[in-house]
Amino acid sequence: MMGTRQSIGQISMFDTASDFIENTARQNAHLTYKYNTSMGRHGWLRLTPAYSVRMVESVLSELKYKPNCVLEPFSGTGTTELVCADRGIMSVAYDINPFLAWFAGVKTRVYDISIPYALRSKATEIVNSLNEFAPVPYPPIAHIERWWGQGQLSFLSKLKTGIWSVRNADVRDLLKVAFCRILISISNAAFDHVSTSFNDDKSEAVFDEAATKQRFIEICFSMAETLQVQPSAAVRIYNADSTALKEDGIRFDTVITSPPYPNRISYIRELRPYMYWLDYLSSADEASDLDWATIGGTWGTATSRLSSWKAKTEAIPSYILETADRIAEADNKSAGLMANYVLKYFDDMALHFQTVFRHIASGGTVHYIVGNSNFYGNTVPSERAYADMLHSAGFVDAQYRVVRKRNCNKALYEYLISAKKP
Ligand SMILES: C[S@@+](CC[C@H](N)C(=O)[O-])C[C@H]1O[C@@H](n2cnc3c(N)ncnc32)[C@H](O)[C@@H]1O
Repeated sequence: MMGTRQSIGQISMFDTASDFIENTARQNAHLTYKYNTSMGRHGWLRLTPAYSVRMVESVLSELKYKPNCVLEPFSGTGTTELVCADRGIMSVAYDINPFLAWFAGVKTRVYDISIPYALRSKATEIVNSLNEFAPVPYPPIAHIERWWGQGQLSFLSKLKTGIWSVRNADVRDLLKVAFCRILISISNAAFDHVSTSFNDDKSEAVFDEAATKQRFIEICFSMAETLQVQPSAAVRIYNADSTALKEDGIRFDTVITSPPYPNRISYIRELRPYMYWLDYLSSADEASDLDWATIGGTWGTATSRLSSWKAKTEAIPSYILETADRIAEADNKSAGLMANYVLKYFDDMALHFQTVFRHIASGGTVHYIVGNSNFYGNTVPSERAYADMLHSAGFVDAQYRVVRKRNCNKALYEYLISAKKP
């Protein structure tokens, strides 16, 4: 039977996954980071798990009220805060990753009128005197030679010295963002993206320093242009854990967010080239510790630690416990760890829903974009679990619907789950 098709902005939404399949097989790429790359500050740096400006705008335009203050508990690249700020809506954001909290802050900052000119002239000055800067030691990233050849490394380490010596903090931060763009574009990461495999066609022999300098200047000039549009509402970003919100006196009435999915994507792994070069990471142990604190994180020793993990809540739905049992029985040496991985994910999210409930104003609404996942043929129904755990935390009217098919695997979808505080 066909369910109701609803239109939210220009996004097609359906009541059930089967309606969605019947009606469209498109992957709705305009709901992912890909759509953001041409959109002012949103396009500064690519991060795969970022959701799109259109997704946030759609949720906002569906609300029956104008929010006073939005909470974004899983800020990532700051998409939610920037969309809200552009619409004059205040927001408070959390991210456990210090690099992302810094980046979202730079992206949503209000800049003095002099900064675009200062950015352009500093970028040109640094590039023109690159050889005068002493190279910094290379960052301790594992197998660095797989990422960059000697020519690229020497270029980056001199550029880093030049940028870090800039006295104006705003200009320095903007140059650091451009530095992130350039370091990935001259790396051997296939498709210029960290989550993909390496290719080796960017070896030292083909490194074109003059073209790279030119590219760096172009990036800075195009960033300077995007500074003309200034956010028109305050944004506060905490580098903190959103399973325990701060008692900071800020009352929010709306949550719009996209948390990690229970699918083993590690943001630390994805972001490690930026994080090592920008001094947010200095060892593999530090990376594992941060991934362990990150919901859904499972990189390095964060995976083995799962064997001794114990739940902190009793809020995990029974069908998730049963799914975990089936995962544990799979014929795979990691099956037990993966079962605990799924349980820990929902236990962390339960803590998060509980703290949000305590802090959100009465009548406020929450909106989560999340994907389901699959382990050894067992589907993990995140959407249903979110709706049930929101109810357990005290919210009412929890509903979910498909917003996007995630990839060619027919069973993986992204959902919007919404609920209200009575
Ligand atoms: C799917 S990404 C968010 C992407 C974001 N909507 C955007 O457009 O860039 C999820 C984010 O949650 C953050 N995160 C994971 N666990 C967290 C926790 N316990 N507290 C705060 N942030 C956390 C991750 O660091 C990551 O940036």
